[in-house]
Amino acid sequence: MARKKIALIGAGQIGGTLAHLVGLKELGDVVLFDIAEGVPQGKGLDIAESAPVDGFDAAYKGTQDYADLAGADVVIVTAGVPRKPGMSRDDLLGINLKVMRAVGEGIKAHCPNAFVICITNPLDAMVWALQKFSGLPANKIVGMAGVLDSARFRHFLAEEFGVSVEDVTAFVLGGHGDDMCPLVRYSTVAGIPLPDLVAMGWTTQEKLDAMVERTRKGGGEIVNLLKTGSAYYAPAASAIAMAESYLKDKRRVLPCAAHLTGQYGVSDMFVGVPIVIGANGVEKIVEVSFTQEEKAMFEKSVASVKSLVEACKGIEPALA
Ligand code: APR
Repeated sequence: MARKKIALIGAGQIGGTLAHLVGLKELGDVVLFDIAEGVPQGKGLDIAESAPVDGFDAAYKGTQDYADLAGADVVIVTAGVPRKPGMSRDDLLGINLKVMRAVGEGIKAHCPNAFVICITNPLDAMVWALQKFSGLPANKIVGMAGVLDSARFRHFLAEEFGVSVEDVTAFVLGGHGDDMCPLVRYSTVAGIPLPDLVAMGWTTQEKLDAMVERTRKGGGEIVNLLKTGSAYYAPAASAIAMAESYLKDKRRVLPCAAHLTGQYGVSDMFVGVPIVIGANGVEKIVEVSFTQEEKAMFEKSVASVKSLVEACKGIEPALA
């Protein structure tokens, strides 16, 4: 069987990390596309030269030509600019929207059957615009946010409890902004929900609240530490988990920004919800029940996404 082809649009910090992980996990051959001449070629060659040491087989090609995307099974999009200290994800809107237009048109022309994962921020608005520009069916395009936000929450919880990250599950829904929704009722240690763990004395409500808040600001925490860019190891690992579920038809249940058509009371927007990812892309959108408080939190987050989508329509009349 021929190897799968994975196209990475954007060969910066996240793109390079993605390319390395694809090789280490032998998910397929890699095409790195970037407007910066030499960068995708250089990163591809560097990683290819690590393959004999690590013992993996994958071909790498760097390119400035969208035609090289032809036949891609998966496309992961990180093209655009990342945050600097003092910037919100929303500050990136105007610049990255133009990038989504170019990328969407490239995908439409050369690999319209690929499963596309968008990472570029502000995520929920960018994946929405990318779907419009590319014309991809809604089951073949998702945004990566929930896996990352949940992973951050899981890390904080595992550290607090002194248990393996493997046994901590977490559920972060809504938009990928500071009003995202970490749902404690649906987050567990080996199946025991967090509110029960508070009652059992594993942690206090105050500490749990602080971890929820740290999760919401998790991206900003990294930006402030790095000063010159935003997070890339955890975002790349998260997108790879999504790509792997598609390529291997694993049918994992992962929180992702998916196109909603009435689910959760939301229409024609991409918002973070649990989905099943399999060989057909988005196999299922999982609708969980909310308490009044959770519903209010989710609706607030959706309202933020809606204002970004409206801002996109203002900038790009073709999207309205
Ligand atoms: N087409 C292709 N590549 C582009 C384009 C374009 N039109 N515009 C910019 N790029 C490339 C840049 O040349 C750069 O190599 O996108 C790459 C982005 O890489 P970084 O600046 O290192 O950013 P990174 O940390 O990888 O984050 C990328 O993901 O999490 C989000 O907020 C983050 O939007 C940002 C994106």
